[in-house]
Amino acid sequence: MTLEKLIDLSRCHAEGGTFVEFQARELAVFRFSSPERVIVIDNACPHSAGNLSGGEVDGSIVTCPSHNWQFDLETGICTHTDMARVKRYPAEIRDDAVWVDVEGQVDSI
Ligand code: FES
Repeated sequence: MTLEKLIDLSRCHAEGGTFVEFQARELAVFRFSSPERVIVIDNACPHSAGNLSGGEVDGSIVTCPSHNWQFDLETGICTHTDMARVKRYPAEIRDDAVWVDVEGQVDSI
């Protein structure tokens, strides 16, 4: 796994998602506290490319702002149908920044 620096943690919203373009990909970074950690996913909703970084977050659930599909950020799986899933990337916080491996994936699909 090769992690690369994605964004300074100070530029990530403390609540909700943060949109980041990185290596021709559009990603969404979700930051959590207690303990502090991040989840990085593809920003485009699998339904119709809605902006997931702009979705409301409740616990580990993000709601797509376009048509309200919901995804569990812990699994990437849509709560309406497990046929829909958003890709999650290996990520961690180090040196006050978010590091990601965009060639890897957390879940086997
Ligand atoms: S684009 Fe996300 S629910 Fe339709």
